Amino acid sequence: MILKKNISASTRKNLNPSAIVNSKLKIPNSLIMYTIKIKDNIHWIGANDRRTHLFENLHPIERGVSYNSYIIVDDKIAIIDTIESSFQDDYISRIKSLVGDREVDYLIINHIEPDHSGAIRRLVNEYPNIAVVGTKLAMKLLDNFYGLKPPQHVVKGDDTLSLGKCNLRFINTPWLHWPETMMTYETGTQVLFSGDAFGSFGALEGGLFDDELDINRYKDEMLRYYANIVGKYTAKVISAFEKLSSLTISTIAPTHGPVWRSQINTLLDMYKRWSSYESINGAVVVYGSMYGRTEQMADYIARRLAENSIKEIRIYDASKTHKSYIIADIWKYKCVILGCPTYNGELFPAMHELVAQIEMTQPADKITAFFSTAAWNGVVTKKLTEFAERISWEIVAPPVEWAGQPSVEDLRKLDVIAHNVAQRLING
Ligand code: FEO
Repeated sequence: MILKKNISASTRKNLNPSAIVNSKLKIPNSLIMYTIKIKDNIHWIGANDRRTHLFENLHPIERGVSYNSYIIVDDKIAIIDTIESSFQDDYISRIKSLVGDREVDYLIINHIEPDHSGAIRRLVNEYPNIAVVGTKLAMKLLDNFYGLKPPQHVVKGDDTLSLGKCNLRFINTPWLHWPETMMTYETGTQVLFSGDAFGSFGALEGGLFDDELDINRYKDEMLRYYANIVGKYTAKVISAFEKLSSLTISTIAPTHGPVWRSQINTLLDMYKRWSSYESINGAVVVYGSMYGRTEQMADYIARRLAENSIKEIRIYDASKTHKSYIIADIWKYKCVILGCPTYNGELFPAMHELVAQIEMTQPADKITAFFSTAAWNGVVTKKLTEFAERISWEIVAPPVEWAGQPSVEDLRKLDVIAHNVAQRLING
């Protein structure tokens, strides 16, 4: 056979399953019993979701998302957060592959949003004596969401729980990004289970740890996650940093995305930059355009910015690019230039939605300018000016709005936008 003829003797040997069984690779009894060791007693038992199109039915996740759940197997057994409900059958099998016939003693709820609590009912059915550990509000939400009142162990910040060799300390971190959220720190291994904080979009692609995968591939998705999910609560991120500052941390294990153990300072630096609204000296130009005239204005301004030595320019069509991506770049860059036509006496709908989302997520410390075309009347620059005032963005040039064809004088007004923005970006 051709196949056999082309395969070397050593390769044929490696295709023999018994050769692999004899290697150091640990083969699980079943694919669904796949777990990943984090520390001696601590394992990842999460799931990768590449089927869902929209996270929270809002944000596109073309590269999927992981729901990270963890288990500590000690004298007592504790699970930290569960997973989304559609993965719960395999989830229970994975737990049993690690604990066998033993009971699970505790479920720690760092965050009760259903992507992390979807398997709780199943877990409580499987382990009726399991005690749920979380904040007082987490218990209330557990009842609200699932009508469940299992044995409860309410904790506050700095409370501790011994599992045997492992000791858990709870850190009160409300509003990251729900009011009941907390973090859990294992004092011996120095693993921090951080909930959604430090999480990322993007399912795990083989590697779990930051040093096992192409971590740079996740950084843009981490920012998109931060800007759209956590960013509104930036003040709470800063409070959390203060609480974490006294801890020695070996590993940060969030509920989504990679587990960090080799580049923790890189991770903390990113979060510090984002939470202090530190931005790159560049411009995000976003337009809505029905027949291309407003798009031409966006291109003109961007070209003038480039001629004024600004290289970091991102142009987005608000009708085409999902706003979660645009908001991530708005978080990243110092300047935001917005333009669209008037539509039914309001902002063009795609711009209206984007502006509403910006107000919700509140990226701060931006400079801005506006432009618009109108067929017979215009409200855009008035409404965008009011928007900028509401969120305290600094308007650095007079808004430009014209009806019909622009005059040379109109184009010069766009030049003023580009000039003023470039001056501020270059000179501060
Ligand atoms: Fe990943 Fe806020 O749930």
